[in-house]
Amino acid sequence: MDFKLSEEHVMLKKMVRDFAENEIRPHVQEYDESAEFPMELFKKAAELGLAGVTYDEKYGGAGMDNLSYAIIIEEISRVDASMGVILSVNNSLTCDPINDFGTEEQKKKYLTPLAMGKKLGCIALTEPGAGSDAGNVSTMAVKDGDYYVVNGTKHFITNGNSADVAILFARTDKTKKHKGISAFIIEKTFPGYRVVKTENKMGIRCSGSSEIVFEDMKVPKENLLGEEGMGFKIAMHTLDGGRIGIAAQALGIAQGAFEEAIKFAKERVQFDQPIINFQAIQFKLADMATQIEAARLLTYKAAWLKDKGERVTKLSAMAKMYASEVAHFVCHQAIQICGGYGFIKEYPVEKYYRDQRITEIYEGTNEIQRIVIARQVLKEFE
Ligand code: CAA
Repeated sequence: MDFKLSEEHVMLKKMVRDFAENEIRPHVQEYDESAEFPMELFKKAAELGLAGVTYDEKYGGAGMDNLSYAIIIEEISRVDASMGVILSVNNSLTCDPINDFGTEEQKKKYLTPLAMGKKLGCIALTEPGAGSDAGNVSTMAVKDGDYYVVNGTKHFITNGNSADVAILFARTDKTKKHKGISAFIIEKTFPGYRVVKTENKMGIRCSGSSEIVFEDMKVPKENLLGEEGMGFKIAMHTLDGGRIGIAAQALGIAQGAFEEAIKFAKERVQFDQPIINFQAIQFKLADMATQIEAARLLTYKAAWLKDKGERVTKLSAMAKMYASEVAHFVCHQAIQICGGYGFIKEYPVEKYYRDQRITEIYEGTNEIQRIVIARQVLKEFE
């Protein structure tokens, strides 16, 4: 067992950290305030291969491993979690299902521009009536000759206001619950595809969580991903990988908040000395550092397991659940260390705290992660 990152991973980490510090950090507050989608920045990240990290170079990918992917999302999120999730959704939730279930034609037509960042992707799974209960999707896709005609509403779609391509989950058979769901690759230019609203959010404000309505949208039958009825399994498989991205995002938030807390504690003088000298602060730092380390080990292990080609359902849910709860704890403590300063927008810990909150919710609330983990653990005891 070797816990040391390879030379390549260390170099990658440094390269992404430099990019995040130089290209993202100066604009973080502006993006947060305007909540405008940072398309220019996404394009810059794509030039470094960050839009399609693990995909074959013949499909425009950077050909790296999943550990690299976790390191990238962690480093980006250490500076800005919005950009972390934008990249995570493009990679894990859009490129991944096409890579794993798409035909050669679909990979050439869709995976290649997505992995190169020439196009932006999103996943259209969640509906007003199908959040945690993803098998309850009610958007309909009715076969009509060479097309499927789609009607329905999706909401809380990350990247939704700017995405060119979406992986859509819609019902092709009303008589079966999860086995009646199919997956499709759709384009925003398909007539009947309409972004109707973008939410005004507490955190990760510029990642565009939107409502998309489909009105008699015609989807060519060759855009079916996998086979009819396979949609739910494709969604679950995709989320297994996606949760590694969210774990890495939460880890990056925790690391960023931790570093800000140390910086503050070294500068802040109370009772005639920098507050970092006090055990009350050092005990907090020890707890924060220990939990971050444990979250990193779990996240990297999930990524490593994916690189081995093994099923990551349990490990990715554990990593997502644990890392997001560590991020919660760390951001809370970081604000506590900064005191009143932590509560004002001028100090970065305020934003880390807001951004962290969603990591316990999306790609399945942590209550759902516990269900996933428990089911897998119980199977081991059957
Ligand atoms: N991989 C492959 N197949 C899987 C699977 C997996 N990880 N998990 C379940 N399945 C299969 C099961 O084997 C079962 O197959 P059979 O019917 O052949 O036996 C089938 O799927 C149904 O499984 P369950 O009975 O476990 O399904 P369920 O209805 O009880 O739901 C759930 C399980 C875990 C609660 C699931 O609905 C879930 O994960 N919900 C959360 C949804 C979610 O994460 N949404 C995220 C939205 S996207 C997002 O957040 C993106 C963003 O903005 C960043």
